[in-house]
Amino acid sequence: MNWSGTNSFLYFVAIFMLFINPFGVHSYNTFSYNETEPGYQIYQILTYRDGSSIVYLTKPLNETCNESRIDLRIIHPDGAVDVVVVNHPIPDFNFCLKPNDVSSHITLFGNIPDIVIILYENSTDINSASFYALLVNARTGNVISNTFLSRVSVINGALSSSGNILPHTNEDHGFLFWSFLTETDISWIYFSKPDSDGNFKPINNNQFKLSNPLDRFNIFPAIDGTFGLVTSNYTNVSNQLNVNLIDPTEPTFGLYITFIKPNENTVDGPFLLYQTEIPNLQIVFQCNSIYTTMGYFCILNMKEIQPKGKFKNYLIKITFQDSGSVVDTEKFSNLELYTELYKGLSETTIFKSLYNGGFLVLFFNNLENNFQVIILDNNGFYNSTLDLPENLNAPNRLALPGFRDSNFVVTQQENDYNWKIHLIECPKFVYYGNDYDSPYIQTSYPLINSIIQLSTNYINITYQSPITISTNNISIYQYNDENPILRQSVPGSSSFFSHSADNTTLILNVLDSTFNQPNAMYYIVIDDNIVQDWRTNQPLLGIESNIWKFNTTGNQDMFAEDATGQFSLTTEGTKYYKSLSPYYQKIFLSQLRIDLAKSIPVDINRLDNIKYYKYDESQHPPKLLFKLLIKSTENLNERNVDRIIKDLDILIKEKEITQISWFNTTNLLDANFGFQKSRNVFDDYKFQLIGIAIGIIILGILYLYAKRRHSKGKNIVVFIISLSIMDFILDILFVLNNGKNVPQLFIPSVIFCAIPIATNSIISMIIILQEITRHERFYEWFKLNTNIAALFTILAGADLEVLHTLSSQVAGIKLFNAPISDESQSYIFWGSLVGLFIEDIPQFIIQIFYVKFTVTYDIIPFLSLLTSSIVLITNILSKIYHVIIIYYHTRKRMSVMDQKVTFESDISDIEKGRNSLTVPQTAKIKNRYSV
Ligand SMILES: *[C@@H]1O[C@H](CO)[C@@H](O)[C@H](O)[C@H]1NC(C)=O
Ligand SMILES: *[C@@H]1O[C@H](CO)[C@@H](O)[C@H](O)[C@H]1NC(C)=O
Ligand SMILES: *[C@@H]1O[C@H](CO)[C@@H](O)[C@H](O)[C@H]1NC(C)=O
Ligand SMILES: *[C@@H]1O[C@H](CO)[C@@H](O)[C@H](O)[C@H]1NC(C)=O
Ligand SMILES: *[C@@H]1O[C@H](CO)[C@@H](O)[C@H](O)[C@H]1NC(C)=O
Ligand SMILES: *[C@@H]1O[C@H](CO)[C@@H](O)[C@H](O)[C@H]1NC(C)=O
Repeated sequence: MNWSGTNSFLYFVAIFMLFINPFGVHSYNTFSYNETEPGYQIYQILTYRDGSSIVYLTKPLNETCNESRIDLRIIHPDGAVDVVVVNHPIPDFNFCLKPNDVSSHITLFGNIPDIVIILYENSTDINSASFYALLVNARTGNVISNTFLSRVSVINGALSSSGNILPHTNEDHGFLFWSFLTETDISWIYFSKPDSDGNFKPINNNQFKLSNPLDRFNIFPAIDGTFGLVTSNYTNVSNQLNVNLIDPTEPTFGLYITFIKPNENTVDGPFLLYQTEIPNLQIVFQCNSIYTTMGYFCILNMKEIQPKGKFKNYLIKITFQDSGSVVDTEKFSNLELYTELYKGLSETTIFKSLYNGGFLVLFFNNLENNFQVIILDNNGFYNSTLDLPENLNAPNRLALPGFRDSNFVVTQQENDYNWKIHLIECPKFVYYGNDYDSPYIQTSYPLINSIIQLSTNYINITYQSPITISTNNISIYQYNDENPILRQSVPGSSSFFSHSADNTTLILNVLDSTFNQPNAMYYIVIDDNIVQDWRTNQPLLGIESNIWKFNTTGNQDMFAEDATGQFSLTTEGTKYYKSLSPYYQKIFLSQLRIDLAKSIPVDINRLDNIKYYKYDESQHPPKLLFKLLIKSTENLNERNVDRIIKDLDILIKEKEITQISWFNTTNLLDANFGFQKSRNVFDDYKFQLIGIAIGIIILGILYLYAKRRHSKGKNIVVFIISLSIMDFILDILFVLNNGKNVPQLFIPSVIFCAIPIATNSIISMIIILQEITRHERFYEWFKLNTNIAALFTILAGADLEVLHTLSSQVAGIKLFNAPISDESQSYIFWGSLVGLFIEDIPQFIIQIFYVKFTVTYDIIPFLSLLTSSIVLITNILSKIYHVIIIYYHTRKRMSVMDQKVTFESDISDIEKGRNSLTVPQTAKIKNRYSV
């Protein structure tokens, strides 16, 4: 059975479907080109949506074979022609006709500008022959990749060579490959869109069955990356032109649609589109997307065979949607006047919906041995016949209008040297009154080619009629020559989307970090099926790359200095990083830096090397923190450091919809942590610090003044008392303000704040009471200075040493000459020694842990730590000196008993000033004794 020959037209059908997406403006209608050497024949033409075309020329050797080479002529929209030769050895037999067929093994496909896919077979060995796809850069002829697609099946003992490719009309999707496994079994594989290295892989595959080896089937690109597969079950009626159908035993014709999805193992359907029980029917069908209204159509060319060999011809149009539901079935036009059309209407006829309305019918007129094209209007009525060149008998030499295009492209071989291209414009029945070139979109914000402010934080799209939000993405790209930068991609399910009250406007809240590049061009890609029609739930077509484009304004940022920020790895990231050897950790960090620069995006030189900061145990579970210094720029047109830090924080926090989650490295960043600017205490708190410095200067002046007035007084208490009170206040502020930041530290910090206050207060009260009751002289003083005594008893709750003030004679003030007994002095000493252990040391430790457990550090903990350390050091030193003095005291007392009186008065002096600030005095004493 000559089944492969019969099906060969199916391949032509597929080839016609390829001519998709031309979206360019041509500067020519007819174009003529002279080759430099004779013998070239046009074999095939591809058209691309940027308006360029690729002509594949062959040089015939004999009736069945061409020379084994692929010569391409790239025709730019302005009429310039590039000569390109594909550099790849393809086995010779590919350049010969397939057995029983009119086409050769090799076929070209393309939907991504500048890329050609060449389908070929690698061998004629029945055991290993395979289909391959060669991806070629059409500008250079260089091979990008060469990928195995499938084995060539053996049917009836011979290789079938029946493979075919159909790229999706939407260039963001891949292509479908199918081939016959047997005469009735067809397998298909959906391959992903080739990446920039030309790599692609199968993402979905399955098989379907024909009822009869000669049954027609039809595959077309549908919305949202889907392919529609239309089959029928009418086994008795074949596509053959001269079938005798007179005695069907009540066959029922059923037409089915199955949607092949770009996801693993997903097909929808089959759904029944049409059925009829009319006997003696010959049906040829052709289905495709319809652009002006939502959905798809099939046109059935019905040929009822009536008695006495008469025929009745008519067309039926079925309109249906993604859900498989049929919207409309109608008798389509009355073309009886155009009998020549019906004579031609056969399995070789192609119906195509035009982007600007109407339908194109391409058929082969057997009588004239020529292809003919007629145009039908939206209602299926005849409008016009396109004027095609004569002798157009090879379908490869035609390119049907593509998606978003109304040009029909025809090539014509003039003579041995010269060929021609004609662009034939089809009539338009629908005009889209906007630049979106979309039947559904009315307007948008921002408008195409408008200029928007930086950090604009919403966009909106107004549709012609009410919509519901669906599941696919809206993606915002920054234009960047050949490598657009994807800035944000949000799925319809996201809460960033909302719609207007009348359901016609879709509003997307955009991250502040997205439109952050001054004087940059952005464009927005709307996937098919981001919205659905509100009434019918039919997904709507989106907007492809480089259509909805606009610019950002210029920018004059204020200068901002270098700044450091921190970021955290996620738990998995922490685990991963720890599992790396130091060498690979380094590589990881340097890749992370590169990827961060791409995500922001910013010149990589503005990011310093990433440095390990710490293992942050305050997070649960603990995570690794890193530091990154961002360098300032003098160029005020670039984003300043502050803005970069803010943007980076947003990008990381919203990583699910930003570049951060698209790189393997940056995806390991912790979204909760974001990017936190490191606090530079001296920068952030300069005013507070200046205040403190002024305070110290005032204290110094007071001290000098006091010393001038009464140099014998313990004037140093001016500092001690200030320090103690400040320490006290900071301890309390720390507990109130920061205590809860590190939960583990809260209870200890409360305990070691409250207990010392309580102890100090009790001891100070005991001391004062004891002095009052036991010492007459103190009582005398107390009677005169009750208020002061009371005040200092309370202040002693902060630090017992404050009590020394009472006897300090500071500045010679009479108030401060309370006669405190030796006994009380020693209570104070022991009390403050206890304080060292229950207050100063624990608080110091708490402060240290606080630093370790927190990332942002503010002024209170900073000052707390500072005063705690000063207090601790002075306290320890004073205790040490005290011990030294006691030691000398005992030795002297034993050797120089007569100096006792002098000594004791000295020692009480020393004890009163027990403090590191009294070091010079102590040293003086020490010297005096050693002399
Ligand atoms: C091609 O060659 C013919 C004569 O050989 C000449 O008349 C014609 O102008 C040439 N066309 C182009 C486009 O060069
Ligand atoms: C055509 O040429 C090819 C390659 O030279 C050869 O293998 C083949 O047999 C030829 N066919 C005919 C019909 O001459
Ligand atoms: C053709 O491809 C198949 C699958 O990759 C391989 O096994 C076979 O060896 C190839 N044949 C030739 C001649 O390269
Ligand atoms: C074809 O499909 C129709 C509709 O489902 C059904 O009624 C009919 O029986 C089928 N015919 C055959 C031959 O399977
Ligand atoms: C065909 O369509 C065009 C564009 O709508 C229209 O101007 C023209 O009148 C139509 N011709 C006929 C014969 O209907
Ligand atoms: C869309 O944005 C434009 C510009 O800001 C605004 O005037 C219009 O009201 C918005 N439409 C809706 C429905 O929010």
